[in-house]
Amino acid sequence: MDHALKGGKPENVRTDCLILPVGPERELGATAKRLDALTDGRIERALARDDLGRGLGRTLLLTDPAELRAPRLLLVQVGKPPLDAAGFRKLVRNAAAAVITTGAQDATLCLDDVDVKDHDPSWCAAEAVIQAAEEAYRFHDYLSEPGETLKVNLRRFNLHQSAAARAGIDRAIKEAGAIADGVAMARTLGNLPGNVCHPSYLAAEARKLGQGAKQLSVRVLEEKQMKSLGMGAFLSVTAGTEQPAKLIVMEYRGGAQKAKPLVLVGKGITFDTGGISLKAGAGMDEMKFDMCGAASVFGTMKAVLGMELPLNVVALVAAAENMPSGSASRPGDIVRTMSGQTVEILNTDAEGRLVLCDALTYVERYKPEAVVDIATLTGACVVALGHHASGLFSNDDALADALLAAGERSGDRAWRLPLWEDYQQQLRSNFADMANVGGREAGSVTAACFLSRFARNFQWAHIDVAGSAWLTGAKKGATGRPVRLLVEWLKSRTG
Ligand code: BES
Ligand code: MN
Ligand code: ZN
Repeated sequence: MDHALKGGKPENVRTDCLILPVGPERELGATAKRLDALTDGRIERALARDDLGRGLGRTLLLTDPAELRAPRLLLVQVGKPPLDAAGFRKLVRNAAAAVITTGAQDATLCLDDVDVKDHDPSWCAAEAVIQAAEEAYRFHDYLSEPGETLKVNLRRFNLHQSAAARAGIDRAIKEAGAIADGVAMARTLGNLPGNVCHPSYLAAEARKLGQGAKQLSVRVLEEKQMKSLGMGAFLSVTAGTEQPAKLIVMEYRGGAQKAKPLVLVGKGITFDTGGISLKAGAGMDEMKFDMCGAASVFGTMKAVLGMELPLNVVALVAAAENMPSGSASRPGDIVRTMSGQTVEILNTDAEGRLVLCDALTYVERYKPEAVVDIATLTGACVVALGHHASGLFSNDDALADALLAAGERSGDRAWRLPLWEDYQQQLRSNFADMANVGGREAGSVTAACFLSRFARNFQWAHIDVAGSAWLTGAKKGATGRPVRLLVEWLKSRTG
């Protein structure tokens, strides 16, 4: 979707649909008043009849408003003041959804009368771009006939601002477009089925990202190289599948030559059957989403490229498929990780930590400024936090605070859980340095504790997105989280 900032008188905006925020009761803002006068009082009358309603985000479509260039005027209810960030997001979502039901290919949101608590017009413009793009997102590549409800005519979502506040908005809109593209990429990779989106597919996606972007270089480590690096844990996960595993490395150089990189590591299990510790059948299709951590790393890199952030970022994707077969790892198997520590695999379904631990050891070579891994790691995280917050763990309070703050600002929130030493003993094994599972209690914490043993040499955080990366039920599909959190955090590191 394209985006542009328009100026001048609102009645002169050439667009298929002018979106006008109004309310809360009947006091119109300056621009709404002006348009009301020009349309012979149509807005006031519609409000007086209560056709718009009072609830935030209610919409009313007026067609052929006389004296406006636009053939459609969509009113959207601002609700009771103050309008906060969450309210504004809902307003834009509803307005975009209403436009999408029409034939309009182009819509323009008028920001003149909008005042969002604690946020400036640049923020509003950027947020509107992202929300509209998310609302217009579709995944119907595999439908023979998309059908009317899935059809989207909307191609451009523009912003209008007549006042002087335009400075900086243009840039914010461009950045927002890049973020929206990153979120969409993460969603699509997540939504793709396991028979299409396997580790080799992800490797090809990485190479595609690198093509034509000279700040991004891409390398893919094959199983042979992983073997010589001593990645026994990673390789144990891929032992049962025909699909070759890939360790994908993307290096983005946008910062100073000598600046240490920020490192992202994504869990990319393209399908998780559980292996020999086979999962139950019901809902197993959703384990195609077990690469959503990796998808968020791809999406974030796409956004970083589009925004040309002045940073050095290294992104790793640990891609493998977890399958049972005659060559699969068994419960009780003992493997040596790249770090030298040994692991007793008590449950082959706790595979995410096995691919991630070797990837974490691998990134030591970059002498990273900080490392953040993103993984659909534990069902226990879904139980603890539901789908509203991602789980955050860190060995560094400042890093944890920065990530939490980035989540708050972007509306892509995380909640911190403890990594106390007390939990580490649950990983004790009789036969190896540690077991790969820590029992029923605090499953997300013990998974993070396991990873922490491979992150002792740098500032590190782990984001468990098992509950946030996709939705189940009627709205089943990838959310693109936590791309927004990660981009916001990276932006905050540009100083
Ligand atoms: N990919 C799953 C985690 C998961 C499960 C995410 C359900 C979202 C929904 C992970 O690989 C896994 O299977 N974890 C096990 C760990 C257990 C064996 C200690 C789990 O959560 O059951
Ligand atoms: Mn698993
Ligand atoms: Zn998994």
